[in-house]
Amino acid sequence: MNAPASPVLSLEARYYTDPDIFKTEQDGVLARTWQFAGHVSQLENVGDYFAFSVAGQNLFCVRDKDGEIRTFYNVCQHRAHELVEGAGNAKLLVCPYHAWTYDLTGALRSGPNVKSVPGFDRTNICLTPVRSEEFCGFIFVNLDSDAACMDEWFPGVRRELSDFVPQIKSLKPIQWVEVSENCNWKVSIENYSECYHCQLNHPTFATGVVKPETYDIRPQGYCLRHTTECQNLDAMSYPVDLDANDFAGSYSSWFLWPLFSFQVYPGNVLNTYHWRLVDVDRVVVWRGWYTVNGEPSETIRDLARQDRETTVEEDIHLVESVHRGLKNRGYKPGPLVIDPRGGVASEHSILALQQWMREGVEL
Ligand code: FES
Ligand SMILES: [Fe+2]
Repeated sequence: MNAPASPVLSLEARYYTDPDIFKTEQDGVLARTWQFAGHVSQLENVGDYFAFSVAGQNLFCVRDKDGEIRTFYNVCQHRAHELVEGAGNAKLLVCPYHAWTYDLTGALRSGPNVKSVPGFDRTNICLTPVRSEEFCGFIFVNLDSDAACMDEWFPGVRRELSDFVPQIKSLKPIQWVEVSENCNWKVSIENYSECYHCQLNHPTFATGVVKPETYDIRPQGYCLRHTTECQNLDAMSYPVDLDANDFAGSYSSWFLWPLFSFQVYPGNVLNTYHWRLVDVDRVVVWRGWYTVNGEPSETIRDLARQDRETTVEEDIHLVESVHRGLKNRGYKPGPLVIDPRGGVASEHSILALQQWMREGVEL
């Protein structure tokens, strides 16, 4: 690993506390990276749609007649009423304001009395599309129409995830756990992306499943990949059939810059993180839990509860204290602990993240 020749200081506090930087990020990093929109199980049938927002923009995804998932800005091309609300199913998209009607490819089909307009050509009018990709059953969008595809941003991740979670295509969400944190989103992301704090702050982590001395987090394109060896699989709080497949006894995680992470626990148990920005001082972390076909599972529910009560709870106090500290006039950015050998007690993942954070406000 390449390590800097002299200490590198952590990011200046204003990146986390200045409302202008937060605003700039909406047009910067958030508008040109791949953002989680939803899960394919929300669009099972032709005409299923759901609305959501990215970088302050209201968008929606819909499944068209050919089965393709399309994403559009959620705005009518007549006089800007929002086209859909929440989630639902429709054969045609009818604007609630003056009933202009679009098909599921976004093309304008008709509108009351539009034929009376000399020269009116409906074929020139269609909803504004947004790039979207399906990634192992998860839908991501990118407001930058020139963005490279997800496999270039996150090399190898699609294949690794399918290896670690062989059943991933048949998973459906069964539970969302919403965790509100009074801190800037980047404080929470950084905390997720280093394990220098784990030994001291996560007793279940350090003494439970993983072997802390083997834990490492390395950049893989714009993914931060967490790897570790596991121990004590007999001591797991749920049964794991180690013979089920090659990765049944493995733990790993793939953080996709800037706001999403896939995490896999032993037993091929997938769970996800989605950081949702509220304002400069607040972020909500959505933890997603999944089972095959969305079958109810006591095991997964217990796991979600245990996770919420241990690691998540422990981290909330850390990130909120850091956010208060970043507003403290007595703080001067300190040096990151970059061990050239990497490993659990090194902050090389923070070095990469803070570089992306700086780039994220360059317009
Ligand atoms: S704004 Fe949509 S039909 Fe007029
Ligand atoms: Fe933590």
